[in-house]
Amino acid sequence: MSFPTSQERIRTWSEVYSTQGQRWGVLPSLTAHLALSEIENLSGGIGSMIKLGCGYGRDLVLFRSVFPDLIVDAIEASSPALEIGKSNIEAVGLRNLFPVDLFEFGEKNRQERYDIVFANYFLHLFSLREAAIILGMVSDVLKDNGAAILSLVSVRDRHYRKGSELEKQCYEVFRGLPWRFFDADDVRMLCDDVGMVVCDLREFTELELVGGESDLVEGYYLVAARR
Ligand SMILES: C[S@@+](CC[C@H](N)C(=O)[O-])C[C@H]1O[C@@H](n2cnc3c(N)ncnc32)[C@H](O)[C@@H]1O
Repeated sequence: MSFPTSQERIRTWSEVYSTQGQRWGVLPSLTAHLALSEIENLSGGIGSMIKLGCGYGRDLVLFRSVFPDLIVDAIEASSPALEIGKSNIEAVGLRNLFPVDLFEFGEKNRQERYDIVFANYFLHLFSLREAAIILGMVSDVLKDNGAAILSLVSVRDRHYRKGSELEKQCYEVFRGLPWRFFDADDVRMLCDDVGMVVCDLREFTELELVGGESDLVEGYYLVAARR
């Protein structure tokens, strides 16, 4: 298999949501919980955040319940995800919902600056080149004192080396969906390449619900700021 295009991957995500609905259940991610104190420090709960790949909005619900005055924007390319998450997303009251491929987000929409860019299990879904482009975009939309809070899948994860290899450390773990597996050096190098500095990098293990079954994910919690 060659590396699927962004549009092909988004189509695959839409199929996943159409068949599995709320694939990861209704509870917010571990990363969203870990991010709460960071969000408080960075914005006092009254600043602004953009969430990349918000899915059906399970993390947004947590952020809104803890930070009622946080200004929140979100990007999600899969329409079935947004349909499934309609009530969550309406309840959260986003300032802007961008229902687009991140790569088409465009200069026009990128004028805004945020205190926080948040993404749970997002950056590992891209080629290394794409991940660098995305982190560059993240850096561009951050305020000077802002930070990105991201979770990444680690080489310690049990899916590492599963499926056909699409790039170094990147495998087609699920049909049509590449997964890149990171180690601490990769994360530091990637941040360095786009002029970001690692403020916090921690290993975590998350017991996730995936399609109704429990799954252990080995990941990194990353907080990175503009240099
Ligand atoms: C692993 S899921 C995580 C969803 C959500 N963050 C959560 O934890 O519930 C990744 C999400 O990113 C979205 N996505 C993937 N590629 C995208 C792209 N190029 N632009 C915007 N969204 C994308 C997918 O549709 C999917 O909802």
